[in-house]
Amino acid sequence: MVTAGPTYEDLDPVRFIGNRSSGRMGFAVAAAAAEAGAKVSLVSGPVGLATPAGVERRDVRSAIEMRDAVMQLVTGADLFFGVAAVADYRPQQAAGQKLKKGPPRQNLELVANPDIIAEVAALEDGPLTIGFAAETEQVEAHAREKLSVKGLDMIAANRVGREGSGFESEHNEILLLWAGGEKHLGRGSKHQLARLLVSAAADRLNEREAIETGSDQDPRPAPGH
Ligand code: C5P
Repeated sequence: MVTAGPTYEDLDPVRFIGNRSSGRMGFAVAAAAAEAGAKVSLVSGPVGLATPAGVERRDVRSAIEMRDAVMQLVTGADLFFGVAAVADYRPQQAAGQKLKKGPPRQNLELVANPDIIAEVAALEDGPLTIGFAAETEQVEAHAREKLSVKGLDMIAANRVGREGSGFESEHNEILLLWAGGEKHLGRGSKHQLARLLVSAAADRLNEREAIETGSDQDPRPAPGH
């Protein structure tokens, strides 16, 4: 399962708070997972991208809608890639009618959105969760903090705000981190990096399943048995 794109948090029927996520990285992850043979559900915020072949797509607008769709579809998933740039806050109230111009200064009351990937990571028997950390500075430190605070299994860290990488770009550079390990996936097209990411996540999933079933242990009986 993959989330992708931005979320739009409505202020009124014509205005919203959004962000610059293009959805390309998430769509590339969904495409790579489908190419690798996975059954893929993609929950996407508002983007202008075609659905990758073999991927089942659900379109949503806000963080709340994304959370509801994810929670409906996540049961039974093995891997969850949270690639969406989910808005941390939404306007406390979306006005039913277009807001009128008022005084020269206006305050906007915002309330926190649910942290979707943290909710998925907290599910009992949930999928292996892989988050993204788009950072403008101290990339590894901030990503490691998110890995631990959100209870994720892996996090793909990348630097944004520089030309030629990150949001709105065809390219990216990813450092993949997990508790006790890391792998530099390097720089490349989002499609190349998505394939490497899917393969690294599948390796971690296989390791986890081997530990859970005990098949990583020496199958020979102990001496004397
Ligand atoms: O926005 P932030 O840097 O915290 O995002 C890190 C990770 O958490 C990303 O994988 C993103 O998809 C996920 N996230 C989420 N729900 C939120 C905020 C972020 O699933 N409300």
